[in-house]
Amino acid sequence: MILVTGGAGYIGSHMVWLLLEKGYDVVVVDNLEKGHRKAVLGGKFYSGDLKDKEFLENVFAENDISAVIHFAASSLVGESVQNPIKYYYNNVYGTLNLVETMIKHNVKKLVFSSTAAVYGEPENIPILEEDKTEPTNPYGETKLAIEKMLKWMDVAYGLKFVSLRYFNVAGSHPDGIIGEDHNPETHLIPIVLQTALGIREKVIVYGNDYNTKDGTCIRDYIHVVDLCDAHLKAMEYLEKYDKSGIFNLGNGMGFSVMEVIEKASEVVGKKIPYEIGPRRAGDPSILVASSQKAQELLGWQQKYNSLETIISTAWKWHSTHPHGYEE
Ligand code: UFG
Repeated sequence: MILVTGGAGYIGSHMVWLLLEKGYDVVVVDNLEKGHRKAVLGGKFYSGDLKDKEFLENVFAENDISAVIHFAASSLVGESVQNPIKYYYNNVYGTLNLVETMIKHNVKKLVFSSTAAVYGEPENIPILEEDKTEPTNPYGETKLAIEKMLKWMDVAYGLKFVSLRYFNVAGSHPDGIIGEDHNPETHLIPIVLQTALGIREKVIVYGNDYNTKDGTCIRDYIHVVDLCDAHLKAMEYLEKYDKSGIFNLGNGMGFSVMEVIEKASEVVGKKIPYEIGPRRAGDPSILVASSQKAQELLGWQQKYNSLETIISTAWKWHSTHPHGYEE
């Protein structure tokens, strides 16, 4: 059985769907603070928090878990600056409890959700896994702290982990049956599509005076299904090589904020109103990953890497669920 923590969240719910598709038995743990029960399409569901040791002990005692895919975390950059205690508590302490329980139950395979935020302001583009890691916010710091903690858990207890450093995850299940529903929504593509639906008046572009082709920030958008597929490959890697590793997951292609708005207008077939606003604090001008290592060592290949596919699958979800899971 595979345990998915945070399995009711945006990425976690796509992971649960993919695991079920591939015939795995799945156990889901989510505290439903941000996740949606309706997003979990199957498996055995436990509502609870990783900070609750007794709860975790019970989940491991009741299920024959062979590997863990760990998404559960707080992940808002701005909030992490305001409230670092929450981030160290939920992310670092929560993961410590998880790992402690895993080791106690002799579960020694972990796929961990890390982030491009571990790099901070990049020194090279595309970013390589061995580039300098200097996070510029507590969110990135907590993810980096966990990666370092896992390294020592491997040394001492033989816990093998694959840490996946995500770039900008977007898109949805190709049929739009599950998708992105954050409250508050901070990510560009959902905001652009909510504007297309008239739920928002306009998109505020955070600055057009960056040193890029059109002055707006460039990001590496990766499709959520491709990202989840990389997690399956990471589990196979742990199975086959019994070795820990750290991998970037991105598209290798950068798109500017304006390019996203233009492509989204094409996909939805109408103009999407926007306005240029001030820069958002802490935004690096360009973040693009090299995912060569994941391609070579995990055998990962993307299927949905065009911006058009990413946006049109997201649109499938948003246009049929304008208020997310609420309806
Ligand atoms: N943007 C806008 N207007 C908006 C929202 C976003 O112009 O209303 C811009 C941002 O300034 C940025 C780009 O669109 O240039 C993408 O922004 P997102 O908020 O969608 O994503 P980020 O690149 O800020 O965040 C991602 C992940 C985080 C991770 C971070 C690392 O979502 O988890 O990369 O820097 F921490």
